[in-house]
Amino acid sequence: MRVGFVGWRGMVGSVLLDRMTDEGDWAGLEPVFFSTSNAGGAPPEVGVPAPPLADAHDLDALAALPVIVTCQGGDYTKAVHPALRARGWQGIWIDAASALRMQPDAVLVLDPINRGAIDAGLRSGVRDFIGANCTVSLMLMAFGGLFRRGWVQWMTSMTYQAASGAGAANMRELVAQMRWLGEHSADLLDDPSSAILDLERRVRRGMHSDGFPTDAFGAPLAGSLLPWIDVGMPGGETREEWKGDVESHKILGMDAKVPVDGICVRVGALRCHSQAVTLCLTSDLPLADIEAAIAETSPWTRLVPNDKATTIDRLTPAAVTGTLDIAVGRVRKLKTGPTHVGAFTVGDQLLWGAAEPLRRMLAIVREHQG
Ligand code: HSE
Repeated sequence: MRVGFVGWRGMVGSVLLDRMTDEGDWAGLEPVFFSTSNAGGAPPEVGVPAPPLADAHDLDALAALPVIVTCQGGDYTKAVHPALRARGWQGIWIDAASALRMQPDAVLVLDPINRGAIDAGLRSGVRDFIGANCTVSLMLMAFGGLFRRGWVQWMTSMTYQAASGAGAANMRELVAQMRWLGEHSADLLDDPSSAILDLERRVRRGMHSDGFPTDAFGAPLAGSLLPWIDVGMPGGETREEWKGDVESHKILGMDAKVPVDGICVRVGALRCHSQAVTLCLTSDLPLADIEAAIAETSPWTRLVPNDKATTIDRLTPAAVTGTLDIAVGRVRKLKTGPTHVGAFTVGDQLLWGAAEPLRRMLAIVREHQG
């Protein structure tokens, strides 16, 4: 099968290519790699032959392919996808960007949760398959088993989102901020007898000094947090918070609306998003049943026992980063009511949050067409 790849050099695209290599996905593919800036250049080494890089704005070259996978971003999608469709291209478009997500004829892809909708879409002629927002995908990979059983009446998700969700430059800036703070307090840190409030004052002043790098985030993230992600919406929520509701509803395909809302916060993690959730269940169920339903969400969902040692060992960005695990823990009944359950989840924003659903969608297309 011939497949076009656009935006493969970026962060999500690189993770996608690595995962395809790990899983042996290249066998039987004839990839065509596109570039917005280096047409004619050498393609990446993936173990199967590929022609020189094609021009990502060459509609003839794109339209010659039955499948295109893009991690190039929303501006590219908005510029190229309508033009391709307008000239009658009937191929499958698999996209990481949000631009097409809420189009009625696009299916959001998260196959451990909505494989049925994906298969039905392919059979009925849907051609746009779009990766969902990372926070939504990670939340459903954690708690989908509860939704599947119809046990959720509403849910709040308070997020702790990594720098990677904002982009590569933001990840770099977070580490640069950490270095700045370390370097500017090194003498006090190295002196065990220095006063802690002197150290704190040095860090605080460093954060607000002229040389402190904030071009990407616009404010300190290291040693702080940012309770605003993406643009504002008319209701007072941010666009990231709005997506939590509309995209989870679309993936689950439920008739009755199960509201999902919360506050999305950027924290100083590099590539794992965490979420503290409150689930209001439809009835007062035993905790063991709730835990079993969570654990059955997917083969990657890992229930972490609610004790300190296991939690700090397994339920953290440091533990989960770079793995496909969706860790879920701190599951307990809340004092606010017998149907209220609290839980915490951590997942890698670049894997299940971005690249993995796209990789698996391509495999599903091959299954259907093979
Ligand atoms: N919008 C997400 C974030 C990332 O800023 O963390 C991708 O869905």
